[in-house]
Amino acid sequence: MNSSEIRQHFLDFFASKDHKILPSAPLVPQDDPTLLWINAGMAPFKKYFDGSATPPKRRIATSQKCIRTNDIENVGKTARHQTFFEMLGNFSFGDYFKEEAIRWGYEFLKDELGLDESKFWISIYKDDDEAFKIWHEKIGVPKDRIVRMGKDENFWEIGTGPCGPCSEIHYDRGIEYGCDEGCELGCECDRYLEVWNLVFTQYNKTEDGEYLDLPQKNIDTGVGLERLASLLQDVESNFETDLFQPLINYITDNCDVEYGAEEQADIAVKVIADHIRSVTFAIGDGALPSNEGRGYVVRRLLRRAVRYAKELDLEIPFLHTIVPLVVEVMGEHYTKLEDKEEQIKKIVKQEEKRFQKTLAQGMNILEDIIAELKEKDVAEIPGQKVFTLYDTYGFPKELTAEIAAEHGFTIDESGFESAMQEQRQRAREAREDHDQGHSELELFKDIKDDVGEVDFVGYEEFELETEINSIVQDEEEVEKISEGDKARIVLDKTPFYAESGGQIGDQGIIKTETGQAQVLDTVEIAELTVHEVEVTGGQIKVASKVIAEINDRLRKATAKNHTATHLLHQALKDVLGDHVNQSGSSVTPERLRFDFSHFEAVTEEEVREIENRINHRVQENLEVNVDLMSLDEAKEKGAVALFGEKYGSQVRLVTVGDYSSELCGGTHIDATGEIGLFKIINESGVAAGTRRIEAVTGQSALNYVQQREDLISEAAAKLKGTPDELLDKIDNLQEEVKDLEKEITSLKDKLAAAQTNDLIGDTEEINGVNVILDSVEDLDAEGLRKMGDNLANQLDSGIVILGSKLPNKVLFVAKVTADLVDEGYQAGSIISEVAQVAGGGGGGRPDMAQAGGSKPEKLSAALDKAKEVIAEVE
Ligand code: ALA
Repeated sequence: MNSSEIRQHFLDFFASKDHKILPSAPLVPQDDPTLLWINAGMAPFKKYFDGSATPPKRRIATSQKCIRTNDIENVGKTARHQTFFEMLGNFSFGDYFKEEAIRWGYEFLKDELGLDESKFWISIYKDDDEAFKIWHEKIGVPKDRIVRMGKDENFWEIGTGPCGPCSEIHYDRGIEYGCDEGCELGCECDRYLEVWNLVFTQYNKTEDGEYLDLPQKNIDTGVGLERLASLLQDVESNFETDLFQPLINYITDNCDVEYGAEEQADIAVKVIADHIRSVTFAIGDGALPSNEGRGYVVRRLLRRAVRYAKELDLEIPFLHTIVPLVVEVMGEHYTKLEDKEEQIKKIVKQEEKRFQKTLAQGMNILEDIIAELKEKDVAEIPGQKVFTLYDTYGFPKELTAEIAAEHGFTIDESGFESAMQEQRQRAREAREDHDQGHSELELFKDIKDDVGEVDFVGYEEFELETEINSIVQDEEEVEKISEGDKARIVLDKTPFYAESGGQIGDQGIIKTETGQAQVLDTVEIAELTVHEVEVTGGQIKVASKVIAEINDRLRKATAKNHTATHLLHQALKDVLGDHVNQSGSSVTPERLRFDFSHFEAVTEEEVREIENRINHRVQENLEVNVDLMSLDEAKEKGAVALFGEKYGSQVRLVTVGDYSSELCGGTHIDATGEIGLFKIINESGVAAGTRRIEAVTGQSALNYVQQREDLISEAAAKLKGTPDELLDKIDNLQEEVKDLEKEITSLKDKLAAAQTNDLIGDTEEINGVNVILDSVEDLDAEGLRKMGDNLANQLDSGIVILGSKLPNKVLFVAKVTADLVDEGYQAGSIISEVAQVAGGGGGGRPDMAQAGGSKPEKLSAALDKAKEVIAEVE
């Protein structure tokens, strides 16, 4: 049975036992901050187990993609360790319990797959008499093959959440797989292969370590597909199954290694095959290599694989070429993978290249460090060095630790952490230096303590009457300001939006009975809305009543751009993939700018596609709604929350039709039709892995299109045609230029020929040799060489030295006929002395040489020099 058949057989079997078959959840956990990766079949279902959500059916079965990196150093060394694997599992949420789980597991292995039941060994939790009875009395497994084990082996939990005692079905692969004859179930070697874990999920482990009864009894089981395949295909390890063999063959075909011949090389091959599977699926599910969290794991795996590839003398970048094979092997079941193949390949390649640049250097440094420490008899690599390798050479600390361990060294983890902390601290200080002056911040904090928060009512109101709470001028609170003064004003409540979330602050005016001021910008300082004003007439005094009014034309234009930004965010995800996330944004009345994670330039077709999608949403005139709710509620609704953003307990959920929903504090339009037209005007890169799109909407978009139209009309007018004729006109023009160029070349040739005839008469005799020394004007190197050739041909025996005077330089050519070369005349050495006189240099073969110089005025002196040189040849 090949592995696809095994997978399908499993799912069919449980479908026949009335289970709903669900597709694998993505490797990146959805809405579970406690997990970095989905690491078991049950992980996506935690909420069904603890009763906080209702499953679509009480019996479910899946084949789930999983990543586990805790045993990474064993990968390739044992038959069964991998970082990526598929877990086949059947689950009961308050439906069937122990007996069915045991019975079906057994039945599937024995009857469906035909495995030899006399090789089955069962482990159960030490106190679980119920499981013992089922196995022994109902299934008929002999007592001596049922082993009771402790909590470490037979109680299943991952951190907090649903857990319980478990029972495992093991398969005795025989003495030849064992470490010695006496080894028993539970041994770490490959003899007793743990095939199926049946977890009787009845507890919920709390943060405090308590085990509370779950509202219902559940079943969670897991079989590793790769292990099952290794048994059924009767091969030694997971790596010899059809899941891995194509990858392994491909790798060994590309390097000088025969699989099975040498242990160290085999390990490298297996590590690469395993890691590339993890990386392919991880990136396919939206993770990108980075220095944080999940991205760091992807980076670590890839870099570890690169290092092993180097050991096999593979030419990096190489790993990305394995990606299509992974897709081929796995794509039948994971059908979405194929669409992402190109994207995954590119990301892997880029990461390989990035690391390749520093890998060799880093390795040298690490080896030097190790050699040095050996001499000093120190067995630990200092944290600072580990940090430098990480920071400058891109060595994940785990990789350094591994290489160190191979030499019998450890690394100073805490020293590494403090070096990392120090760097963060330095970065923070550098940032703070740029922030507002300390005293100003303190001042506004004091004001806030005095006057309390400023009520922002500008979502609904654009104009209102309020009171001036404070005026700050030159970092001091003042009583009043007068015409021409610039200052900062704090109001009691305000319709002015303070710059945040990328949206620019509002502008407008403030009027009191005694004067009026222009609000140039609105910002937030110490959580206060602060209006930056310039007094345009009269005086403005603290505590006076004031009309505050925003410029609603600008606000409206900004709102169009802000709503368009949300559409853009969604459209980018749709067109480029789920890995797209906002990394920065700026929304002003004139335009919007959106920075996002993406690894390559967005193509013109993609830009068009994005633009079209957004304009369709504009034409549909989707309603924009804003709802206040708790963060949990918003997440449940699937809202896009920005990574690293802090949200309060109440959030604003901005939805645009059913197209986009995002948490956002900004101001928006009521319906997308107001955008009118959405136009991307620029796409560029801002940093590695970050792209930027700039776009305009509404009137600005129209202006932009019109300007472009004007440009085309102007260009057409210059070519004396209409815009429709523009391309033809350009084609014609290019043709004409080509013809003219041809004509010039032929004229030049003719000119050179004519000049040659003139010059042949200038032959003089030096040292008994026929020599032509001459200067011409404006001949390029090519023409000069041709002329030299012509003259030399006509001379039969002789030397030709020519100089061509150009505006800022001079060119030389020297030709010596073959008979004279034999007599010791060298074109190369003659020309180098000649060119020197004209401020240059050059050289060449004995029969022909070219050179240049920077002093055209020295041309005739240079030719005189030629005479001397020729005369001196003996
Ligand atoms: N959740 C159980 C495991 O991962 C089945 O082993």
